[in-house]
Amino acid sequence: MSKTVYVGMSADLVHPGHLNVLRRAAELGDVTVGLLTDAAIASYKRVPFMTFEQRLAVVESLRYVRKVVPQTTLDYVPNLRALRPDYVVHGDDWRSGPQRRTRERVIEALAEWGGELVEVPYTEGISSTQLHGAMREVGTTPTIRLRALRRLLGAKPLVRLLEVHSGLTGLIVEHLVHADDRGRREFDGMWASSLTDSTAKGKPDIEAVDLTSRMVTLNDVLEVTTKPIVYDGDTGGRPEHFAFAVRTLERLGVSAVIVEDKQGLKRNSLFGTDVAQSQASVEDFAHKLRAGKAAQATPEFMIIARVESLVLGQGLDDALARASAYLDAGADGIMIHSRSPRPDEVLAFCEAYADLPQRGPLVAVPSSYNTVTEDELAARGVNVVIYANHLLRSAYPAMLATARSILRHGRSAEADADMLPIADLLDLIPGTR
Ligand code: SPV
Ligand code: MG
Repeated sequence: MSKTVYVGMSADLVHPGHLNVLRRAAELGDVTVGLLTDAAIASYKRVPFMTFEQRLAVVESLRYVRKVVPQTTLDYVPNLRALRPDYVVHGDDWRSGPQRRTRERVIEALAEWGGELVEVPYTEGISSTQLHGAMREVGTTPTIRLRALRRLLGAKPLVRLLEVHSGLTGLIVEHLVHADDRGRREFDGMWASSLTDSTAKGKPDIEAVDLTSRMVTLNDVLEVTTKPIVYDGDTGGRPEHFAFAVRTLERLGVSAVIVEDKQGLKRNSLFGTDVAQSQASVEDFAHKLRAGKAAQATPEFMIIARVESLVLGQGLDDALARASAYLDAGADGIMIHSRSPRPDEVLAFCEAYADLPQRGPLVAVPSSYNTVTEDELAARGVNVVIYANHLLRSAYPAMLATARSILRHGRSAEADADMLPIADLLDLIPGTR
């Protein structure tokens, strides 16, 4: 009887390195590929470019492969225990880096039935990481970017967004990665904040910066990034105007718009009831949501309804009733906002929201209740966390301190240590040299 061989793969961009691994595996016996699901891949790196079905179609057609099964976790052990293969074959590049622990667990599991790990030397000159980098340089299309948010929601327990208000802030969200023993983390996408876009333009956050001006910022961000964008649509304006905004955003490749249930002159939510601002009636806001949904050109675009009841002191019951009514009107998800310094009211909302018969993705914006952790939010059913203003808030005090230092000292030398060195500035943006 021929031996059985297991190969775990993402198979997003299949290259000769993968074929070397599969060829060696086929020499050893009948090859079953454990094809990592989107969720398994997203647990340690970016969501793949191709869907599971597309990747499956590619792998199934490879002549070295007998069978393909889904591998739903980065950890091979559940599939290995079920299949008890004689061999696992993998490239030797996983001995270091984020997959090191995964490898150790494979060796331990194989020992249970006398199986063996066979490692194929890394194929020089080609790697998925390089190809992914090259793909990012080539860029993306509006359609791919638009769809990316729904794919992330399907693949990750919590989608993490950070505010952008310029090309440069977009580059931070696009490229920054942090790795430690808890794994590898990055921002999944961008929040096109009305507060930071207005503030960066020196204007108040009262919808005075109109869609046309906001599109200028959006274009700057779109030109240098590939990750999905969620647009802060403020009140959405009149329903008739909101319908046009939806079309405009879809054309640009924005994934979702969040509209808030306020009316009249909009003031920033973090003022709460300290300034005069009023909530729209449920009927009026539901009408606006319906107008937006009817205008939508693609099935993937999302309109998320932002409930301001907690911000405006209307309480949990009102927030919940509105969330339910907005979902009935066609909203694809709910953002619950709060300006409380503690997370309690948002967490209470999350618990009640989880019991609604119909629910869409839930978005939270922990600006004031900032001690809450992502794990705590995810555990209560939050699907998207937005860090709504943090890059602008950190940049402004730094800029002010430098300007003040120059005035104080009559020169810039004293500010030097707090600034990006000129050489680093010149290397910051590829192509500057
Ligand atoms: C924004 O970032 O513009 C928001 C979130 O709408 S908040 O400022 O908290 O209202
Ligand atoms: Mg806003």
